[in-house]
Amino acid sequence: MYLAGEEEIEAIAKVIRSGKLFRYREDSECERFEKRYASHLGVREFALGASGTYGLAAGLVGLGIGPGDEVLVPAHTYMATATAVLAVGAIPVIIDIDETITISPDAISDAIGPHTRAIIPVHMWGAACNMDAIMEIAEHRRLLVLEDVCQGIGGAYEGRKLGSIGHAGAFSFNFFKNMSGGEGGGIATSDPKVAERARCYIDPCHFYWQGRNDETRPFAGVGARASELLGAMLNVQLDRLDGMILSMRAEKKRILAGTKHLGNLGLRVTPMNSADHDCATQVMFTLPTEAAAQAFVETMPAVVAGKTGRHTFTQWDQVLMHEGAHHPAINPYALPANRGLRTEYREGMCQQSLDILNRTVMVATNPQHSDEEVDAIIHNIDQAARVALEHVALDDVVLKSQQAVDLQKFDA
Ligand SMILES: Cc1ncc(COP(=O)(O)O)c(C=O)c1O
Repeated sequence: MYLAGEEEIEAIAKVIRSGKLFRYREDSECERFEKRYASHLGVREFALGASGTYGLAAGLVGLGIGPGDEVLVPAHTYMATATAVLAVGAIPVIIDIDETITISPDAISDAIGPHTRAIIPVHMWGAACNMDAIMEIAEHRRLLVLEDVCQGIGGAYEGRKLGSIGHAGAFSFNFFKNMSGGEGGGIATSDPKVAERARCYIDPCHFYWQGRNDETRPFAGVGARASELLGAMLNVQLDRLDGMILSMRAEKKRILAGTKHLGNLGLRVTPMNSADHDCATQVMFTLPTEAAAQAFVETMPAVVAGKTGRHTFTQWDQVLMHEGAHHPAINPYALPANRGLRTEYREGMCQQSLDILNRTVMVATNPQHSDEEVDAIIHNIDQAARVALEHVALDDVVLKSQQAVDLQKFDA
């Protein structure tokens, strides 16, 4: 969350004063948000819930994913992308990202097997996945696509809002997201059947309040209903969203213009699938070596994408340990329906992802940055890039002299 102030306080106070905090009521804030957000995204329906993790699971349930299904997830994402797959009884198959730090369409094509049913492209750090390529593969191979837009709120892919391109899109409104209610999440889709199943998962008794669609047989879901406090806060946050994204895009543009000269020294801007439409919450550079990336982040406030501590598959303990549920009898890794699926995560997998992530550095933007602060960021990037790239040059000298020594040994 970047900004919250008096408007949010007033909106929440109004709900409290009304004494009506339960979402199923007249003039519901949750319902108003669902309608407004669906229209903002350009989809038919949005179902609000308690978190992004529930949003992802509701999306998978909506799409009919369950035991016997493999779901392709990228090696770089918050672990909830993979644990949501386990929550519905399916198996996450972890595959490589490419230099855009999002799921690689080539890796998707290579990984599709007889049990693969869905792909979860994750728009990491607000940068869009290659949705044209992904949707083409999905159509060709009859796969379902659930976009993970938890980090991509407000972003788009070639003009289409993230979350409106796949068969469904899951969102998080937790504290760290572009739009937040402290916690919260939900699922967007244009398929009413998917929406109805997702709603049943989020609140198994929702039809008691809203009426039941006879086509959808109800099932036991979880309890992830949103409160009116969340709805009220998100209605205010939605009003701020476009302006915030525009100012972060403007900041990113200024930073890229101000650091363009560093291209001559070898500083590469991380390639993007939709460079003009990302959320611009980060400006990313891909350095030639891991040591250079480390030197960069030691010189200025920035982070290495692979070293956040929680966004790389090597850090998803429960998944790697095959602890897929709270009870062994319903652990997807041991379910008979999942026999024959790819449940192993081998040593040394996804090396391409680790290499890219350990060389990619991220500098955060902020809609509240002043011009002076942006100037300081540009100055810092100049300094950090020089230190980082000098590092590479020095490494080169060491490598060349080592090779010369080796050659001498060979001659002798
Ligand atoms: C990419 C991604 N997916 C899923 C989630 C899960 O969202 P939540 O924390 O709201 O459950 C997050 C949250 O950080 C995320 O960044």
